[in-house]
Amino acid sequence: MQAQNAIATLIVRGLVDSTTPHIAAHLERINLPEGLVDLYPLLAKRKADPDVYQPRTFRPEGPPTRPPSSLPAPGSLALNLELGEYIGSGRSGIVFAVDTTGTHGGLPPLVLKIARQERCQSVAREAWFYEELECLQGVVLPRCYGCFRLDLQDGQTVPAWSAHELDDSDAGDDLVDVPAEYHGYSANALDILDQHPHPLLTELGTARDCLVVLLLERLAPAPTEWIPERSFWLTENAEPALLAAHRELAHLGVETILDIGLDNVMFAPPSPPGLPTMPSPFTGLTHRLRIIDLDLARKCDLKFSFLSRALEGWVRRAF
Ligand SMILES: Nc1ncnc2c1ncn2[C@@H]1O[C@H](COP(=O)(O)OP(=O)(O)O)[C@@H](O)[C@H]1O
Ligand SMILES: [Mg+2]
Repeated sequence: MQAQNAIATLIVRGLVDSTTPHIAAHLERINLPEGLVDLYPLLAKRKADPDVYQPRTFRPEGPPTRPPSSLPAPGSLALNLELGEYIGSGRSGIVFAVDTTGTHGGLPPLVLKIARQERCQSVAREAWFYEELECLQGVVLPRCYGCFRLDLQDGQTVPAWSAHELDDSDAGDDLVDVPAEYHGYSANALDILDQHPHPLLTELGTARDCLVVLLLERLAPAPTEWIPERSFWLTENAEPALLAAHRELAHLGVETILDIGLDNVMFAPPSPPGLPTMPSPFTGLTHRLRIIDLDLARKCDLKFSFLSRALEGWVRRAF
């Protein structure tokens, strides 16, 4: 099996249209610095408002550190893919199946999450969470085979962007895609606090001639009996399973409250052809659920007990 960091280049047919026909798009893996994402709530904000940010809810020893990676040294594989059927989309991305036949094998069924033109920052930031939570890939998260980038040249267009536009008006040319831990702070307030997102996220936040994609393990839809008529009322055993899955992330100080909900819950892929589910390194539990869509996730140094209790309310309200 190929490791999740084996691929250095993606060569994808059907992803980019250009004036030179039949040329496949070459995307290069983005190396994400470990310090890409800031702690939430922002440290500068906490120092400014010590009365609001009760110290007893935070871990005195700081946020949980990223467990060491169990992957080998990054590989240099160039993977040829063909864009397949459209699967779904949301605020940040448009997801397609990809055809891996003709590759050298060693990969499970995959999907490509194509960042919307104005959401490159969000999807690159999401990739950081997959690295931060590597030990939960195949446990409660899909396995992530990397985040890749192409700077578009004149005449190159991305058909998926125009074919699957968001009807929501909060997208658009003038939108600045701000990291989730910075939501709700004005530029002026951040200048005063002298705290700003990582330069890579700032650059991607306004980029419009940049294509960013995530290569993910293909998951199965959550079974409809869990979501009777999608009425948003869950059957009895769904709530504990959702809570247990989201609690795994809390062990590493990660919460997804800004985007928790049915759209972002799927099931483990059938195995084979998918890879097997792994038990949690924290609880030993084996989950059927998978949480997707980490582009609004936040890394916190809140105590596990605080996050865990908060999750009970969040899960009950969101599903
Ligand atoms: N790994 C995956 N396997 C299969 N389908 C997926 C996968 N990831 C996303 N999808 C589908 O694509 C939709 C959009 O993906 P999501 O990551 O939620 O994007 P957004 O950030 O735009 O909401 C999901 O609701 C789901 O239907
Ligand atoms: Mg989503």
